[in-house]
Amino acid sequence: MPSSSPIPTILLLLFVLASAGAQTLPKKIGNGYRLVSIQESSNGGLVGLLQLKQKSNIYGADIPRLQLSVKHESGSRLRVHITAAEKQRWEVPYNLLPREKPPQLKQARKDALSPSEYVGTELIFAYTRDPFTFWVKRKSNGEILFNTRAEASDPYSDLVFKEQYLEISTKLPKNASLYGLGENTQLHGIKLYPNDPYTLYTTDISAINLNADLYGSHPVYMDLRNAGGEARAHAVLLLNSNGMDVFYRGDSLTYKVIGGVLDLYFFSGPTPLAVVDQYTAFVGRPAAMPYWAFGFHQCRWGYHNLSVVEDVVDNYKKAKIPLDVIWNDDDHMDGHKDFTLNPHNYPRPKLLAFLEKIHAQGMKYIVLIDPGIGVNTTYGVYQRALANDVFIKYHGQPFLAQVWPGAVNFPDFLNPKTVEWWSDEIHRFHELVPVDGLWIDMNEASNFCNGLCTIPQDRICPNGTGPGWECCLDCKNITNTRWDDPPYKINASGIQAPIGYKTIATSAYHYNGVLEYDAHSLYGFSQAIATHEALQGLQGKRPFILTRSTYVGSGHYAAHWTGDNKGTWEDLKYSISTMLNFGIFGVPMVGSDICGFYPAPTEELCNRWIELGAFYPFSRDHANFYSPRQELYQWESVAESARNALGMRYKLLPYLYTLSYEAHTTGAPIARPLFFSFPNEVKLYDLSTQFLLGSNVMVSPVLEPNKTSVEAVFPPGTWYDMFDLAKVIVSKESSHVLLHAPLHTINVHVYENAIIPMQQGGLISKEARTTPFTLVVAFPLGAKEGKCEGSLFLDDDELPEMKLAAGSSTYVELYAKVSDGAVKVWSNVREGEFALEKGWIVEKVAVLGLDGSFASAVEVEVDGNAVADASAVVVSTSEHRMAAEEEGKRKHV
Ligand code: GLC
Repeated sequence: MPSSSPIPTILLLLFVLASAGAQTLPKKIGNGYRLVSIQESSNGGLVGLLQLKQKSNIYGADIPRLQLSVKHESGSRLRVHITAAEKQRWEVPYNLLPREKPPQLKQARKDALSPSEYVGTELIFAYTRDPFTFWVKRKSNGEILFNTRAEASDPYSDLVFKEQYLEISTKLPKNASLYGLGENTQLHGIKLYPNDPYTLYTTDISAINLNADLYGSHPVYMDLRNAGGEARAHAVLLLNSNGMDVFYRGDSLTYKVIGGVLDLYFFSGPTPLAVVDQYTAFVGRPAAMPYWAFGFHQCRWGYHNLSVVEDVVDNYKKAKIPLDVIWNDDDHMDGHKDFTLNPHNYPRPKLLAFLEKIHAQGMKYIVLIDPGIGVNTTYGVYQRALANDVFIKYHGQPFLAQVWPGAVNFPDFLNPKTVEWWSDEIHRFHELVPVDGLWIDMNEASNFCNGLCTIPQDRICPNGTGPGWECCLDCKNITNTRWDDPPYKINASGIQAPIGYKTIATSAYHYNGVLEYDAHSLYGFSQAIATHEALQGLQGKRPFILTRSTYVGSGHYAAHWTGDNKGTWEDLKYSISTMLNFGIFGVPMVGSDICGFYPAPTEELCNRWIELGAFYPFSRDHANFYSPRQELYQWESVAESARNALGMRYKLLPYLYTLSYEAHTTGAPIARPLFFSFPNEVKLYDLSTQFLLGSNVMVSPVLEPNKTSVEAVFPPGTWYDMFDLAKVIVSKESSHVLLHAPLHTINVHVYENAIIPMQQGGLISKEARTTPFTLVVAFPLGAKEGKCEGSLFLDDDELPEMKLAAGSSTYVELYAKVSDGAVKVWSNVREGEFALEKGWIVEKVAVLGLDGSFASAVEVEVDGNAVADASAVVVSTSEHRMAAEEEGKRKHV
């Protein structure tokens, strides 16, 4: 988004005024349906027919007959699908998100199932006939997870199903904690906050202090409940790509959706990790990421020429701050046009020489591409796009919009021909510039103009003259169709803006007559799929794609950053909740612009941001065109914090990479809320200021100015300071601990019973990767008996697939045991040849928490063989106790 172009205040006012009427709408919209038949379906589920009970004309006419289909698709997944009985309606395309098609109701038979329950392995679907309501409950404890029945006193209706308005609600118990329903500004932290409409509609707005729909749409929530001290989590996905408002009231939740079908999926959990496992098994496992992607990335909008980029790389080296990837925003382009090079500022021969040099060192280069293709008859990309007829249309003509190059048309990634053309353009560009990944931006899709536009004769759109977002087209708002002006107005842009505001007109259409109205929120997703396909086919390497707009399943193809944030302490804080939410959405490779996109951060903020950002799964410094330079070496104090925090990140790269393997195979988020490891600790349910990397490493950043300490929660058990393993905190009952945190200090702790594989770090991941390993083995303080576990995945990350296979990868299960006065550390190695060939060694084993008397009794074994040259270090318990006492003094519960 044009960062310094906030929505004009007058416009804002107008929208607010225009929306005032909506506040007084009647609460009950419809009168529900009656279930007239239900029977077993051909696919082994149920299929039924619903008949409208009584008409209501609010938000248009009701659809009189609906088809219901229900199926336990696995032991942990139940699907409830409701659509019009007689007419096909828009659904998320089955080729974008592969899944089973619901069966057709051939002939309605009146054959009541008795009892009115359909039982799966863990979930039960139960219903009433008149009115038709349903609820989903757990078999194991009878708990009702979702319940659509509305009482007279409820502020919502039974099921409503109209052409352009669907409504369904669930009651919720008071003890439910909900997470998800993004992407939005997360003003209240990670836990959903009652009474805000969570609006889902992909939108280009920067993180403003308003609860607003942002770049992605993820209509899924995780519900964590704790009854009698025992936590259970489940998730609910409404697979629908139309705009929607989701009203959460604390004891109920209502979806108000402006099209499509009700396609609900219930994932039974019961642990948070099981929920994301089941969810990503359905929506697609997170993409495999190359090793270097876990290195540090530097970007900026406004690297005016190649020399500036070269200087940045040199300065990182001089400052001894790790750097793996250097990025270009659109500055390398000729007139902001995708797949081009500016011949003066980025002459190709020089760029190629630069790339050869950094590639030889193991560094990588990524550039931005926007979806808007400049309307310019001398531009090859545009000419080929026209020839292939790839654009989204409006009345038979490519829909005209404006983005950075001036007038643009938008490719329609739902069209197979577009996917081919796009792939060809990426291939051509790669011949020109051998980039290592692509950044797909502005794909909500973002448009600087609204409505139906023409290019004026007498005006020239900004084109290569610098950023300019004033719309230079002549445009008229379109309000004459029910798509551009739907009966129910979602809270678009947080201000009930018209639905086509700053995007493609919703009456424009895609391939096969699909309306933008329906497919809007799939734009970035479909572009990520096409880009992934192109890169995979092109390099025979693991693709790296960063996308701004995401939908359900995007994590299978791309990483995400949280868009145009602000260089403020608030945005520093919000970044944690957004990152944690994306982990739940199955997009674990996520981070925020470190130091903020705009305006200029203070030096202190930038210190604190790199300390936090060094532990984002995706760690990148990026800034706006107008911001002063904010590379980490620009301030000596920030450079020091960066060396410290990124220094630790680079030592932890094997751990992070193993987490990314875990994410890729089980969906487990890399960065997780604390309740993932401690689900029974209710105090942690709305903790948005700390997080875990994997199950065992906890990051507790400073998020406020002028602080030299941070108050952090420590779940019960022993925690060792990663920067000084001799310092320990032993916590009872999730104690609050005031940690020492002067400017260059970030608190990172490792939890008991873990084994963390680390290496020696370095300035680039390629080198850090070859250094010897240290295993940090963390027993509970003073343990006489106990076990620790960890794992390590190593592979050749040039290969597209990330999987355990002979010769190209190795998986090591790490174990340690203390008993009978002896410590044993050992491993089980699977497919060990790869690691052997690379010559990796475990140089050191740091065993923590044991009494000094164990020093001579440590035995280290790898794959059944004793390791003679591994020196085991037993950090003495007395040191720990001292440190614990010291921390104890600062403890206030
Ligand atoms: C968008 C992006 C931002 C980028 C800018 C210019 O605002 O979110 O990261 O710098 O466009 O390309």
